[in-house]
Amino acid sequence: MKGAIGKIYGEASPFEFNFVIFNQKQVKRGDYIKVWNDVDGWVVAYVESIVAKSNVRDKEIREIANGSKEVFIGKAVVLGKREDGRLKVPRSPFVPGESVFLAEDKLIAEVLGLSVDGVYVGLLGDTGVKVKLDPNSLVQKHVCILAKTGSGKSYTAGVIIEELLEKNVPLLIIDPHGEYHSMRYPNESVDGDFGVKPKGYEDQIRILAPPISPFAERADELLILDGVNLSAEELIELTGLKNPTAQALLYQALKELKDEDYTIRDIMDEVESIKHNGKWTLLGALAKVEESGLFGEKPTDLRKLLQRGKATIIDLRGVEPTYQDLIVSRVCTKLFELRKKGEVEPGMIVIEEAHNFIPERGFDKAVSTGILRTIASEGRKFGLGLMVISQRPARVDKNVISQCNTQIILRVTNPNDINAIKNGVEGITAEMVEEIKRLPPGHAMIVSPELERPVIVRVRSRRSKHGEAVSVTKPKEDKKKKKQKKSKKVEAKKEKKGFLRRLFG
Ligand SMILES: Nc1ncnc2c1ncn2[C@@H]1O[C@H](COP(=O)(O)OP(=O)(O)OP(=O)(O)O)[C@@H](O)[C@H]1O
Ligand SMILES: [Mg+2]
Repeated sequence: MKGAIGKIYGEASPFEFNFVIFNQKQVKRGDYIKVWNDVDGWVVAYVESIVAKSNVRDKEIREIANGSKEVFIGKAVVLGKREDGRLKVPRSPFVPGESVFLAEDKLIAEVLGLSVDGVYVGLLGDTGVKVKLDPNSLVQKHVCILAKTGSGKSYTAGVIIEELLEKNVPLLIIDPHGEYHSMRYPNESVDGDFGVKPKGYEDQIRILAPPISPFAERADELLILDGVNLSAEELIELTGLKNPTAQALLYQALKELKDEDYTIRDIMDEVESIKHNGKWTLLGALAKVEESGLFGEKPTDLRKLLQRGKATIIDLRGVEPTYQDLIVSRVCTKLFELRKKGEVEPGMIVIEEAHNFIPERGFDKAVSTGILRTIASEGRKFGLGLMVISQRPARVDKNVISQCNTQIILRVTNPNDINAIKNGVEGITAEMVEEIKRLPPGHAMIVSPELERPVIVRVRSRRSKHGEAVSVTKPKEDKKKKKQKKSKKVEAKKEKKGFLRRLFG
């Protein structure tokens, strides 16, 4: 054990105490310390704040400080000691005059309740303690990553994705910026402090993109949906159809079809049979949806989206927001149904830019909100978890944020976003809020009922390459896959041409 770094003085309770710091270079705010307690043995505390004082009159402090003009005083909040797997606060107060030591890494990990073999997110504060979180709780009880733009959300999400891939957890990543492709390649600038080695996840990552994506070429496969039973709301959102007559005709056609499974083609046939001149606007709008190629007779088997040890990325870069929303809604709805029937592996859906898909009421509307809310509240029963990522916490449905068991918060400064965090994250104190506003780059506060107290973590280096949405090029393309992709595109085009000929002659 290294030497004492300070001594308790004045009034001390079992919950907190103040101590005089011998050398201010040895202790920092946020450090974990330990003190001997005659009844309970070694007890761990946390340095909540440090103040400097000059011209101290208190005799006791002056004696401990050994005549020094400037005295540094630490305020410690007691965490306790682990006994029979539980954290216990000491039964008797600390004794003034007792020496204060820096706590060893093992003791800190034990007291905080850090998992031994969990998801390695980073190092605790300035210590060498690895912060590992329980993967089951993380996946099944949802996690959110919140922070202002550019503060490391996607980087941190990538860290967790790497860890979950290592543990064979199936992942589906909704990637509106096409920035997760790079996980295929190793990170060439790994920081040695974290004990991780560069690694690319080439074999574990599969990229899908809808045919309407300008980047569809770089995907491994096209994402085709079945387009069965699209609702009037979904179609109105997709077509941007504002004309009230056309909307009424759409409702009329869907009413006729409501008892059977119908495709866009069926709706169009139904609309065609209506004797009303307003139908042409509607038919034109529906033709555009069909033309997108997103819906087809040979849809992607969505069961393949969640596979053990694999991450499927749905690359939505450059795809219109209304289509993005519909894709997320349809894919998540289907996966949730499949999961309930046990036809797909338990896993996690990662939602980047979550404010677009689960907006807070009054800010925006999205068709995907309903299903994502359902997964947030019921997903844990069926083994389907969410990772919700957003730079605008105030704009994400606060019910969903509060359903997340683990909250990873990087720097946030916007007062509305701070308020959203205060309201959505249980047990957050005024001190923690101040801490969040000042978090340095790459540092996150992790709040979880699994941890005895929120911890500040220096997020570890990524094993795989981060980001660079624009410059990512696909590695060598499998010739067979290329051919399949081409023939799918040709098929989609043929279908579209056939239909337009039928419609417009
Ligand atoms: N823990 C970290 N270690 C090293 N670099 C990091 C870390 N976290 C973030 N960065 C760097 O900071 C930059 C921004 O990170 P990132 O892209 O994750 O931000 P973001 O919060 O997702 O931003 P946006 O809101 O634009 O999506 C990146 O260039 C990334 O390399
Ligand atoms: Mg990002």
